[in-house]
Amino acid sequence: MTGWIPIALWASLWFLNISDSFMSAALAASATPPASTTAQVPNEYTKGEAAFNRYCAACHGKVAAGTDHGPTFIHRIYEPNHHGDQSFLLAPRMGVRAHHWNYGDMPKIEGVSDEDLKQIVGYIRWLQRQAGIN
Ligand code: HEC
Repeated sequence: MTGWIPIALWASLWFLNISDSFMSAALAASATPPASTTAQVPNEYTKGEAAFNRYCAACHGKVAAGTDHGPTFIHRIYEPNHHGDQSFLLAPRMGVRAHHWNYGDMPKIEGVSDEDLKQIVGYIRWLQRQAGIN
């Protein structure tokens, strides 16, 4: 029975994602270029930074500025109201079907712990606040 829970979660995320592609089209039209920060990372976020660099930066870039393999998070699409902390916990667990961009699918990320992910979200939210996204 419990095997259905992830499927149900995934299905509801997928459904939400369809409705929010309309939203992202609207946002993309008004998007400003990503402003990555050069500010010193506060101590409370250095663990998150290290975990992000280890597990996420290969695609999402240093300081989450994006690469050819994945989007920046310094973008209004990923602000807390639109992609809540929960999506940052679920995406690495479930993988993500490409829907906002043309980078392809995000695979499941192996080896990253729940604690790492909590720290990673804290770090990403801090980076976003530096860019005025909150
Ligand atoms: C192998 C490349 C790759 C790695 C590594 C990767 N991602 Fe992604 N990620 C992607 C791509 C590509 C997308 C964009 C999919 C789309 O919307 O088109 C994405 C999208 C996301 C999204 C948005 C999900 C949604 O619902 O729209 C989140 C959140 C995310 N990634 C978090 C992470 C975190 C946290 C890590 C590290 C633990 C990580 N990613 C590592 C490639 C990657």
